[in-house]
Amino acid sequence: MKALVLSGGAGTRLRPLTHTSAKQLVPVANKPVLFYGLEAIADAGITEVGIVVGDTADEIREAVGDGSKFGIEVTYIPQTAPLGLAHAVVIAREFLADEDFVMYLGDNFIVGGISDLVESFRAERPTAQILLTQVSDPKSFGVAELGPDGRVVGLEEKPEVPKSDLALVGVYLFTPAVHEAVRAIKPSWRGELEITHALQWLIDADLDVRSTTISGYWKDTGNVNDMLEVNRSVLERAEPRIEGLVDAASEIIGRVQIDEGAQVTASRIVGPAVIGAGSVVTGSYIGPFTSISRDCTITDSEIEFSIILDGSSVRGASRVEASIIGRNVEVTPAPRVPAAHRLILGDHSKVQISS
Ligand code: DAU
Repeated sequence: MKALVLSGGAGTRLRPLTHTSAKQLVPVANKPVLFYGLEAIADAGITEVGIVVGDTADEIREAVGDGSKFGIEVTYIPQTAPLGLAHAVVIAREFLADEDFVMYLGDNFIVGGISDLVESFRAERPTAQILLTQVSDPKSFGVAELGPDGRVVGLEEKPEVPKSDLALVGVYLFTPAVHEAVRAIKPSWRGELEITHALQWLIDADLDVRSTTISGYWKDTGNVNDMLEVNRSVLERAEPRIEGLVDAASEIIGRVQIDEGAQVTASRIVGPAVIGAGSVVTGSYIGPFTSISRDCTITDSEIEFSIILDGSSVRGASRVEASIIGRNVEVTPAPRVPAAHRLILGDHSKVQISS
C-alpha cells in the first residue's frame, strides 16, 4: 500500500497567517501539521509516499527532505496548478501504479492517527473508504448523505444547503478502481476535478464505498479558536523535556518542553507549553497551552493559551491571551499618552472613570 499526500495548492484561499507560506507547515505544538500526517502514515506501516506539491514546493521539500527522518521514502509529484484533489490522483497515476493507497490532505490533523483504519481497509478491501465527522459548518466541506442502512448514498462538495452535518475528513482509502473514476469525471463549477465526484461515480457504479465516523478531527478553516484548541490538545499529551538553558531564578511547572538552544531567564513557565530552539524568554510568564516557536524573544511579558510563530518578539506585553502571532512579528507596548477625560455632567450624575 502507498500513500499520496496533498501539499499543493496556491496561496490564495488562505488566511493571513499563511499568506507567506505553505498552510501544511502551520505548526501545531511547534511541529508542522503535515509532519503529524507523515508520522501517522509511517505508523500505519506505509513507506512509499508521494507528496503532491504546487507553488510552495521548495518550502515543503526543505521541511520534509527525502522522508528518511520519518522512516518513509518520498517521491515529489509537481502539480502545475491546484486543479483539484482528483486531479492530484490523475497526475500521481505512475507513482501509484496498481496498488491500494491512502490519500491524505496535508492540512488535516487526525487525533489518534490512521493505523486502525489502514488495517481494516487492508483486511476488508472495499472499493473505497472515507472518514466522516460532525461539523457545525458543513458548507465549508464535502458533505455525505447516508441512507437508512448507514451506507453513503450521496456526496456533495461545499453545498449551499447541506443534506447532513457529516463532513468528509481529508483521509481517503482507495483501491485502483478510483483511477477509472477520476478519468471519467468533469471539472466542477469551481473548475476543479473533485474527489467527491469521483466517489459519487463509484457509488453510482454500485461499488463498495464505506464510511467511518470519527471525532478528534481538525481542519484549517481559518478558525483561530480551532487552531488554539488543537494546539492545546496536542500539548496536553506532550512529554516534558528540558534541553535548553533555564537559570536558577526561573520556575518550570508541569509538562514543559524547552528545546535545545532555547534560554529561559528569570521567568515562570507553567505547562503544558513548548519553547522552541533559539527562543529567549526573559522576565516573563508563559502560561498553559502556549507554543513559542523557534527564535522568538519574549521579554517582560505574560502569554497564555497562545501560539507564537518563528522569529517573533513580544516585549512589555502585560497579558496576551488566546492569540496567534505569525512569523517575524514585533509586539511592543504603545507609547504612553497622557490620559484626559473631558466631562460635561449634569447635576447629580454618577460616572465611573477608569484610572
Ligand atoms: O479537509 C477536508 C475537505 O478537503 C473535504 O471536506 C472536501 O470534501 C475536500 O474537497 C477538501 O476541501 P478543500 O477545498 O478545503 O481542500 P483544499 O483546497 O484546502 O485542499 C486540501 C489539501 O490538498 C491542501 O493541503 C492543499 C492540497 N491540494 C488541493 C488542491 C485543490 C493539492 O495538493 N492540490 C489541489 O489541486
